[in-house]
Amino acid sequence: MPSNSLTVTDNRTGKSYELPITDGTVKAMDLRQIKTSDEDFGLMTYDPAFMNTAACRSAITFIDGDKGILEYRGFPIEELAERGTFLETAYLLLHGELPSKAQLEAYAKDIRYHTYVHTNIIKFLEGFRYDAHPMGTLLGVVGALSTFYPDAKDIGDPKNRYVQHIRLMAKLPTLAAFAFRHNRGLPYEFPSNDLGYIGNFVNMTFSIGGKHEPNKVLQRALEILLILHADHEQNCSTSAVRAVGSSHVDPFSAVSAGIAALYGPLHGGANEAVLRMLDEIDTKAGIPKFIESVKKGDGRLMGFGHRVYKSYDPRAKLIKKVAYDVFQQTGMNPKLEIAVELEQIALKDEYFIKRKLYPNVDFYSGLIYQAMGYPTDYFTVLFALGRLPGWLAQWEEMITDGEQKIARPRQVYTGPVRRPYVPVEKR
Ligand SMILES: CC(C)(COP(=O)(O)OP(=O)(O)OC[C@H]1O[C@@H](n2cnc3c(N)ncnc32)[C@H](O)[C@@H]1OP(=O)(O)O)[C@@H](O)C(=O)NCCC(=O)NCCS
Repeated sequence: MPSNSLTVTDNRTGKSYELPITDGTVKAMDLRQIKTSDEDFGLMTYDPAFMNTAACRSAITFIDGDKGILEYRGFPIEELAERGTFLETAYLLLHGELPSKAQLEAYAKDIRYHTYVHTNIIKFLEGFRYDAHPMGTLLGVVGALSTFYPDAKDIGDPKNRYVQHIRLMAKLPTLAAFAFRHNRGLPYEFPSNDLGYIGNFVNMTFSIGGKHEPNKVLQRALEILLILHADHEQNCSTSAVRAVGSSHVDPFSAVSAGIAALYGPLHGGANEAVLRMLDEIDTKAGIPKFIESVKKGDGRLMGFGHRVYKSYDPRAKLIKKVAYDVFQQTGMNPKLEIAVELEQIALKDEYFIKRKLYPNVDFYSGLIYQAMGYPTDYFTVLFALGRLPGWLAQWEEMITDGEQKIARPRQVYTGPVRRPYVPVEKR
C-alpha cells in the first residue's frame, strides 16, 4: 500500500478505496471507481468556480498567497520589476529562462518586424462607435486577426506557434494604441520601429503631429506595471485562454477569449472602481465615515482583498513605490494622499485585520495610469498588454502538455426528469 495515499470509505456501500496522493492532489478521475452499483456512473467532485481544483500542471508562475510571494519561473517579482525589462519577462515566461543578450536582441528584433497590422484593420476600427469601450474594440480586432493569418491554425508546429506569439506580442500594442486614438478621433499613429517596445506604444498613443516628448520615468513606470501584470497563474482570463485554446483553435481566437474575460469588472476592472471610490470619499476627512459604511456592509473597500493573497499583495507594494516616482513627475495627486491614509486606517482596523484584507494590485495602479494621461476605461487595456505574455506562455504550455485534452467540465443535472413532448395546442 503506498504511504502517500488517501483512504476513502463509501458509507453507502461500506467499501474502502485507496487513492494515490501526488503533489498534494488526488485525481478526480480516481473517484470514478467509487460506485454503488455497476450502473452507477461513479463519484465526481463538485467544485463551482474551481475553488479547490488544480486543472493543470504548470511551471510558469508560483504564488504563495499567505506569505505574499509571486515568482515567474522561480524569479521573485520584486527583482524582475526592479531590474528586468518587459520583453525579458515575456521571453522568460515563454522559454523558462532569462534570455542571453543575443537571444533578447533576436526576440526584440522579431517583435519589431511584426508591429504593423494589415490596413484593413483600420476599416474595422472605423466601424466602431466613437465611444466604443476600448476593451470591446480590442477583443474584436484581436479575434479578427485570426482571419488575416490562417496559418495560425497549424498549432501542432512549434515554429508556427512561435510566429503567432511574435505577431501577438508585436501587434497588440499597435491595436491598443489604435483603439485609444479611435476614441479621441485622432489619426492612427503607425509603429516607429526605432523605438523600444514601451516607447513605441506610448508614442502611438500620445504622439500629436508625429511628435511626442518621451518621459523616461513614466515609461519605466509603465514597464514595471506591465511586468507586474505579466502572469498570475490560473486566473479567470488565463483559464479562458487555456479552455478556449484546448479546442485547438488558433491563438488569436484564444487570446481574444482572454481579453473578453479580463473585460469583466470582477477581473480587470477593479482599478476603475478604486478611482470612483476615491472620488466619492473626496477628502481625507471623509475616510472614517467611508470605512464605517464598508464595515456596515454598504459596499466594499475597492482594491482591498484577494482570493489568493491573504497578506499584502507583493505587486501592490511595488506599485505604491512606482506611484511616488510618477507623481514626482506629474505633480502630486490629492487622491494618492487619500489612498495612502485610507490604507493606513484600514490596515489598523480590526474588521480588515480579522478578514486578512490587504491592498491588492488595483489599489494604486489606476492612480498611476490616470496620472500618465490614460482615461479610466483604458486601464483594462493596459492590463491586457501586460498579461499577454502570460496568456501566450500558458497557451504554449497547455498545447504541449500530453495530459491536456479539450476542456469539458461535468455537471450535476438539476432539471426535470424525462417527460413527453406536448403539442402547442394542448399546453
Ligand atoms: C477580491 C475579492 C473578490 C475576493 O473575494 P473572496 O476571496 O471571495 O472573499 P469574500 O468575498 O468571501 O470575502 C471574505 C470576507 O471579507 C469581506 N471582504 C472581502 N473583501 C472586502 C473588501 N474589499 N472590503 C470590505 N470587506 C471585504 C467580505 O465581506 C467577507 O466578510 P464576511 O466574512 O463578514 O462575510 C474581494 O476581496 C473583493 O471584492 N475586493 C474588492 C474588489 C477588488 O479590489 N478586486 C480586485 C481583485 S485583484
